[in-house]
Amino acid sequence: MKVCIIGTGYVGLVTGTCFADLGNDVICVDRDKNKIENLKIGKVPIFEPGLEELIIKNSKIKTLNFSTDINKSIRNSNIIFICVGTPTNNKTNSVELKYVYQAVRSIKKNLNNYKIIVNKSTVPVTVGDKIEKILTSKKNKKNFDVVSNPEFLREGEAIRDFTYPDRVVVGTSSKKANKIIKSLYLPLIKKDSRYINTSRRGAELIKYASNAFLATKISYINELANMCEKASVDIKDVSIGMGLDQRIGDRFLRAGPAYGGSCFPKDTKALVYAADKFKVNLSIVKSVIKFNELRKNLPTEKIHKILGKNLKNKKITFLGVTFKPGTDDMREASSIKVIPYLAKRNAEIRYYEPTGYKKEFKKLKNVKFFTNIKDACMLSDLIIIHTEWNEFKQLNFRKLVNKKIIKIFDMRNLYSPDNMKNNKISYFGIGR
Ligand code: UGA
Repeated sequence: MKVCIIGTGYVGLVTGTCFADLGNDVICVDRDKNKIENLKIGKVPIFEPGLEELIIKNSKIKTLNFSTDINKSIRNSNIIFICVGTPTNNKTNSVELKYVYQAVRSIKKNLNNYKIIVNKSTVPVTVGDKIEKILTSKKNKKNFDVVSNPEFLREGEAIRDFTYPDRVVVGTSSKKANKIIKSLYLPLIKKDSRYINTSRRGAELIKYASNAFLATKISYINELANMCEKASVDIKDVSIGMGLDQRIGDRFLRAGPAYGGSCFPKDTKALVYAADKFKVNLSIVKSVIKFNELRKNLPTEKIHKILGKNLKNKKITFLGVTFKPGTDDMREASSIKVIPYLAKRNAEIRYYEPTGYKKEFKKLKNVKFFTNIKDACMLSDLIIIHTEWNEFKQLNFRKLVNKKIIKIFDMRNLYSPDNMKNNKISYFGIGR
């Protein structure tokens, strides 16, 4: 099938590349010339395991193409995916939809034959209706269908999530569009995953409802972690004990700092905003947002508890600074708040991060990037395991720190408190 992807951000790039890999004829468009030129020579602007290899492979056999010519790309395709950003408008907390509507206006100009417009950008309920309204004119009344097909791709695992989806949600009442989109996804659905055809509004809501539920699940376990600390219970045991109940499930029950990334914080706010418009009070999601906001203070409170009030000249090492492993994304990572706080108090910050130096800390003079774990940890007063990269899971801290008194703040509960005690290491986790 001839597929056009509008927007070569994280979702567009992964979606376009994976559809090309399934044998479709894909053109990815973006107005950022520099980005497109780089993509043409296999330079990928984001860190996503496996993506670069797939881009190079499919570009070579020409199933995957890149262009800045949006008009031509739309005219030459039968299925147009809208994959542009929908950031939060910080003034109103609503979703900024201008990029979606810009894409829709380009599509309207180029409806030369029947096309399916598939919206993959995360948008509030009813935006699909608005897109349809914009596209409808006397001239092209029956020449298109607007479908909602939300993405459920986790950063760092996006290729896998695309290839082995738990579900493919397609919102449309058009039999014709549904048949075509189903055949596009057929190679993936065969792999036992589920294809759900629902209403367009239903699909839009499924996306937000899923992310808000996962954010709630994490906040729930995080709040219980607070209780565990007071009651001398290990939250990891609680997660395992709860998770074995199949109705609950063990995933997304890892206690830690406030959840971050570009999706949960943005989508929970957008859902509440949209529900308010329908005059529905989503009180549970509202308290999750509030709880997560407060939880952002947890790391600094713990650090003071471990090192005391005065942090001047304390050597503090961060292992990982991204919001989660498998990505170079810093959006809403705890480190963004914690590192400047510590730097302001004249602590000496060192960090090691597998995805390299981070410009976010460039202006802070007492923050230094190290290219290896050993140098970053040597003689540190406190090691903070910030991100659960695999390479942090089996470290010998005695050798790495080379000090008598070793203090570890394990924000991801990677290590056993008993083993640490046996090694005479002062160990602090979360909820244990
Ligand atoms: C999330 C969803 O998981 C995807 O399904 C969705 O498609 C995506 O948002 C999106 O809307 O585009 P992502 O933001 O990449 O994916 O990352 P997650 O793996 O979901 O992690 C989000 C945050 O929750 C991270 O800060 C992570 O550390 C935290 N988390 C996750 C926990 O604190 N505990 C857990 O048990 C799981």
